[in-house]
Amino acid sequence: MKWDFVFVCTVLIFGIWAFGFYSNFSVETIPEEEEEIPYAFCGVGANAENIRSTSRGGEIELGKALFKANCANCHAKNMKSKLTGPALGGVEGRWADYPREDLYDWIRNSQKMIAEGHPRATELWNEWQPTIMNNYPNLTDAEIESILDYIDAIYVSF
Ligand code: HEC
Repeated sequence: MKWDFVFVCTVLIFGIWAFGFYSNFSVETIPEEEEEIPYAFCGVGANAENIRSTSRGGEIELGKALFKANCANCHAKNMKSKLTGPALGGVEGRWADYPREDLYDWIRNSQKMIAEGHPRATELWNEWQPTIMNNYPNLTDAEIESILDYIDAIYVSF
C-alpha cells in the first residue's frame, strides 16, 4: 500500500514536470517593443516545416535588426502588403529557379542585375520601375540569410 502511494506520487510529479517542460519549450516568443510576434520554432507552429526547409542557418534576431534598419522603409513589416517596394513574404520561392547567389546579388546591387537582363530582375523592374531599390554591397551572405529567415518567420506567423 505504502509503495503504491509512492508510485502514484512519482508519476504525478513526473507528469507535472513533463508538462511544464513541454509548455515552456514548445513555442518561443521573442519580446518585441511594439508588438509581440510569435515565431514558429523548431518544428512547432503552422508552417515551421517551410522555414526549416528553406533556412540556411540565419539568425532571426540579427535579421530583424538589419531589416528594420535597412529595408522597412520600403518593404512592409508584415511581409504581405505592398509599400514603396513589393511584399517580401515568400520571396525565396520566387527566386527558387535561380542560384541562391542571384538573390544575394540582387540585394547587393539590383540595378546591375536589371542591366544584365536577369529574368526575375527584369520581371520586377517591369512592375516597379522607376522606383530603384537601394544597394547593400556590404551585407554578407550570412546577414542576408538572417534577413531572409526573419522574413519567413514573420510571413508564416500572421
Ligand atoms: C528605397 C526603397 C527600398 C529599400 C530601402 C529596399 N528595397 Fe527591396 N525593393 C524595392 C523595390 C522598389 C523593389 C522592386 C524592384 C525595383 O523596382 O527595383 C524591391 C525588390 C526587392 C526584392 C525582390 C522581391 C521579389 O519578389 O522578388 C528583394 C528580395 C528585396 N527588395 C529585398 C530588400 C532587402 C533585403 C532590403 C534591405 C536590406 C531592401 N530590399 C531595401 C525597394 C526597396
